[in-house]
Amino acid sequence: MRDIRLFGDPILRSPAVPVVDFDKQLRALVHDLTETMLDAPGAGLAAPQIGVGLRVFTYQSDGVVGHLVNPELSLSDETQTGDEGCLSIPDLSFDCTRAYGVVARGVDMYGEPLVLEGTESLARCIQHEADHLDGILFVDRLDPQTRKAAMKAIREAEWSGLSAPVVKESPHPMFGRGL
Ligand code: NI
Repeated sequence: MRDIRLFGDPILRSPAVPVVDFDKQLRALVHDLTETMLDAPGAGLAAPQIGVGLRVFTYQSDGVVGHLVNPELSLSDETQTGDEGCLSIPDLSFDCTRAYGVVARGVDMYGEPLVLEGTESLARCIQHEADHLDGILFVDRLDPQTRKAAMKAIREAEWSGLSAPVVKESPHPMFGRGL
């Protein structure tokens, strides 16, 4: 189980790089992502959310648990609008418009070709997780008014700022002189 990075952590805004080594470390990453997703629990989890900048995500949908590496998405023209949330933005969800269907082509952790196809909630999940690999969060996809409300809710959230960098106390006391 790994800590899930929260909104405000710079890794969530950094595009992840394609996987080139299909080795033991990659299998360990898929394992950790899967366990962390199931424990949360969440419908999906992308590697940057546990601090790893690689193009890998896991998902669970209708009892099926899987993963995809280096995904490329094709989206349907038809859209759907519905509730969406993110493990990196805990306890908040907002209406988000997404493509209704998606075909995601990539490979599995052994480098074998894998196509993941879905509609409705699985399609939403795949688009959400693929966005994470580009440093995009679902709040970026909201209509302007909803986005404004979302940003306000995030600022006011209990966990807000928890992932901010820790600044060490100065070893040199200021004796109340200030700066
Ligand atoms: Ni998310």
